[in-house]
Amino acid sequence: MMERIRQAIDRARDDRGHADSADLHELGTRSQLAPVVTYTRTRVFEANAELLERNRVLPPQDRSAAGHAIRMLRTQLLQRMQEHGFRTLAVLSPADGDGKTTTAINLAISMAADRRHTALLVDLDLHRPGIAGRFGLVPEAGVDDVFAGEAPIERALYHPEGLERLVLLPARAPMAGSSETLAGPRARDLVRELKSRYPDRVIIFDLPPVLAADDAVAFSPLIDCAVMVVAEARTQREDVGSCLTLLRQTPVLGTVLNCATDVRAPY
Ligand SMILES: Nc1ncnc2c1ncn2[C@@H]1O[C@H](COP(=O)(O)OP(=O)(O)OP(=O)(O)O)[C@@H](O)[C@H]1O
Ligand SMILES: [Mg+2]
Repeated sequence: MMERIRQAIDRARDDRGHADSADLHELGTRSQLAPVVTYTRTRVFEANAELLERNRVLPPQDRSAAGHAIRMLRTQLLQRMQEHGFRTLAVLSPADGDGKTTTAINLAISMAADRRHTALLVDLDLHRPGIAGRFGLVPEAGVDDVFAGEAPIERALYHPEGLERLVLLPARAPMAGSSETLAGPRARDLVRELKSRYPDRVIIFDLPPVLAADDAVAFSPLIDCAVMVVAEARTQREDVGSCLTLLRQTPVLGTVLNCATDVRAPY
């Protein structure tokens, strides 16, 4: 199964011929340690540890096989991102329930646990925002409010206590017309602002399923690279191919095999 999906990805990459021909620039001289971050404007909250555990969110140094796998993925992604000068990463998959949000959170925690980086996790699933809920956070403002012009970014930034160098930009509520927003100037301004504020920060975007809504495709010109979550026994090879065709400009740096087994409801 996995082998076939990998082949499909390789073939799609070959067809697109861009994977290794992206415009590269070296980041080799960047400082090795992220500066100490003080959260003067970012709100600090206490994440609900029990809820996180129930939601399969792993502590940074988790010793399980899953913990090991996520750190390996983190390290590979960071290496490749650094090689190419990439700062923004989207976590994508063809369908709902594949494990994007879970993967995005675990990756962000793991990236932030590497002292050379700070990580910002942004909930851009404006159909079914899920990040705040996994942490037990009820945000006063979210990225939806920022897009609506009703809140400045700093009012929507949250730092979970104890997870150093991690900041969340959650979505508070679903947003009508999200794909148009993600394709438009507000999204462009947001990404520019987030990138320019913290040059050592890796920005991770959680998005809706690629094939169930046009949001991921709409936003794709603003992301440097992506990781594709593949759910064992349910992701169809053709669907992975369709995603890669739709996202032809976006380098897919890696695949995550997730074993999510939940029964799927119609999107
Ligand atoms: N490896 C796994 N094993 C078992 N359950 C998992 C696994 N990964 C995720 N899940 C569960 O499957 C459900 C869907 O996961 P998640 O929300 O991460 O998927 P998603 O791709 O973000 O879905 P959506 O597109 O609807 O946002 C969640 O209840 C999550 O806890
Ligand atoms: Mg999700």
